[in-house]
Amino acid sequence: MMDKKAGGLAGIVVGDTAISTVGKEGMDLNYRGYSIHDLAEFASFEEVAYLLIHGELPNQTELQAYQEKLMLLRELPSPLKTVLEAIPAKTHPMDVLRTGCSMLGTIEPETKQYTPQDIADRLIASTPGMLLYWYHFHKEGKRIKTNSGEPNIASHFLYLLHGKKPNPEHVRALDVSLILYAEHEFNASTFAARVTTSTESDFYSAIVSGIGTLRGPLHGGANEAAMELIAKFKTPDDAENGIRKMLADKAKIMGFGHRVYKISDPRSDIIKVWSKKLSENSPEAYLYPVSERIEKLMWEEKHLFPNLDFYSATTYHYCGIPTDMFTPLFVMSRITGWSAHILEQRKDNRLIRPDANYNGPAPRAFEPLNQRG
Ligand code: COA
Repeated sequence: MMDKKAGGLAGIVVGDTAISTVGKEGMDLNYRGYSIHDLAEFASFEEVAYLLIHGELPNQTELQAYQEKLMLLRELPSPLKTVLEAIPAKTHPMDVLRTGCSMLGTIEPETKQYTPQDIADRLIASTPGMLLYWYHFHKEGKRIKTNSGEPNIASHFLYLLHGKKPNPEHVRALDVSLILYAEHEFNASTFAARVTTSTESDFYSAIVSGIGTLRGPLHGGANEAAMELIAKFKTPDDAENGIRKMLADKAKIMGFGHRVYKISDPRSDIIKVWSKKLSENSPEAYLYPVSERIEKLMWEEKHLFPNLDFYSATTYHYCGIPTDMFTPLFVMSRITGWSAHILEQRKDNRLIRPDANYNGPAPRAFEPLNQRG
């Protein structure tokens, strides 16, 4: 019988990586050696995307060329638009992205013409348009243009969503959150992407594996679940009573706990500052003190701390983003980390194929169909 811990591969090292460090003693979370605190304070998401995929930070000329390239890759091919129009209006936006990426892979498959880096850039540039083209088509019957003219992914996403120039504070909050979500070592979705890559499958298949894995509430889906939880409460006292009851019922509180971090998630403090800042100008300012009370109670009662998803939820909500687009935003960011890992896995590949402990029936005689009772 396997123990529960090994079942989740907890604490088991399954490969080397030069992309990031998570929870290593004496080391901050970093991407290619750069602290997440410095990146979130001084860099843009595009700089981080470049760093993850190319291994080094871009200089000014490289960054400008990269941003221009991403802007040029925002148009969607018309067969993809046809598919987006055919996806039912009630579909979860994660399924829209999963399908959209898969469809793009049939129109622009990985060949010599489209290199892995080109595909990574294409997906980074086009996923906001994919989601919001589908959204506006089904919400208002509008076929939006997916090239907003906005210079970066955060402002581009908000422009396409709201159809107007976004508030600069919202743009920076979203930009920071995209930086924080971009990469996190051998998390479940990245590992899924690496497993797919290890079979020598194509780039899109690996990304689609990542999207499917990220969707669940124990992973990326937690930011949506956290928002649904916070939105249930009108006051901090209300939240305290509700959470106490949930804990008594042994319910999981979404947005808390982490497989690797044991005391705190370094990304949470960074996004929490943004949640507080945005709450100050919001008619729903009360959501922030509600969240803080949940945080305090979870620490007192369970010694559990908020992970990145908890305060990301209200940060996104304050930017006017619908809750079911929270995990898709995680995809738009994590495509950079997944891409870096796909490239790294390919550089030194071996099929990932672990063993299992068999606990099924002992060998037994086969009975032909006409002799079975
Ligand atoms: N709320 C309540 N209890 C929690 C909890 C939470 N969010 N997270 C962990 N626990 C409890 C578990 O019930 C378990 O208690 P037990 O030992 O009495 O059974 C214990 O803490 C260990 O949790 P476990 O689920 O075994 O840890 P894990 O390493 O397998 O899981 C997570 C890590 C992230 C999946 C888990 O903390 C979780 O489900 N969190 C909520 C979802 C979430 O926010 N996911 C995003 C992660 S970034």
